[in-house]
Amino acid sequence: MNVLGLESSCDETSVSIIADGVIKSNLISSQDFHIKYGGVVPELSSRAHLQIINPLVKQSLKEANISLEEIDLVCATAGPGLIGALLIGLTYGKALAYGIGKPFIPVDHVEGHLFSGFLMEEKPEYPFLSLTVSGGHTLLLLVSSPIEIKKLGTTIDDAVGEAFDKVSKMLGFGYPGGPKIQEAASNHSGELIPFPISNTKGEYDFSFSGIKTAVLRYIQKNFDDVEKLSDSNKNMIAASFQYYAIKALIQRVEKAIKDYSVKSLSLSGGVAANKLLREEFSLIAKRNNKKLIIPDIQFCGDNAAMIAYRGEMLFKEGLSFSSELNAYPSLTFNKLIR
Ligand code: KG4
Ligand code: ZN
Repeated sequence: MNVLGLESSCDETSVSIIADGVIKSNLISSQDFHIKYGGVVPELSSRAHLQIINPLVKQSLKEANISLEEIDLVCATAGPGLIGALLIGLTYGKALAYGIGKPFIPVDHVEGHLFSGFLMEEKPEYPFLSLTVSGGHTLLLLVSSPIEIKKLGTTIDDAVGEAFDKVSKMLGFGYPGGPKIQEAASNHSGELIPFPISNTKGEYDFSFSGIKTAVLRYIQKNFDDVEKLSDSNKNMIAASFQYYAIKALIQRVEKAIKDYSVKSLSLSGGVAANKLLREEFSLIAKRNNKKLIIPDIQFCGDNAAMIAYRGEMLFKEGLSFSSELNAYPSLTFNKLIR
């Protein structure tokens, strides 16, 4: 089966073709121009998706050496994300499927990340525990089958990726913050500032607004202004924030492993690219004797391969969707995550 996937929920336009489970192409066009605005500008994002999507589809087919007529299924992200951006990929996907007379499956972006471990040769085994961490979501999930997903915990305020981005801004590093914080942290080897890990009412929930505020207070109290921070001060703050933010994630995951009987452990989403988080996750898996699946870095950030894979999974489950289905901004649509 040849599946064409489209992703356009935020600042990456991506097109992928998967043939019988093998990734034939996974093209990603990143909108780097948002950097100068310090974050994603929705209207500019939509315009860039609109400009690139058609050439990217053509290039993807060429790279995969597959003609449009040979595509059996079209999938596109329907949400959550920026509405204008989502509408480009979703409308394009629906029209393409209609035009070639093939089925169309709308895919939830978070579910795309959640199942991205299946893009690896070694796949997660059900039931598995998943930590899905991105710029918009922080979810601890118990996954028992392709369509049975139980939400154990989520953030009660900022997503962890969002906290990386905000702290990066405070330190004057800019957007996207994750890779910049990681880089600065790698230049620090001394003591850490003991930033707080917030408690939450839900035992598997997360909260990152406390640590973000603690970083801001620390800068204000000790340096007055970010301009007065030396590079080594910035590196120490970045390393301390990264350490405690990741510790907060790890603590909840370790608790869930003890409370639920799972076969494997999976880490996904943009923040799963973080080196320290990947290392800590490997250690938890070893300590608890669980199979560990973490996608390669290219599949952690937004990509269409995960959308094509998830769409094919839903199609094989026999699910079909109305063509009237619209784009949606938050995690509500497929309703698989309960
Ligand atoms: O999944 P993603 O590409 O987009 C969303 O669906 O949100 O995730 C983007 C997020 C951003 O907040 C970015 O700062 C974070 O992932 N991120 C990282 C790293 N690389 C990307 N966070 C921590 N460490 C990284 N190396
Ligand atoms: Zn994402």
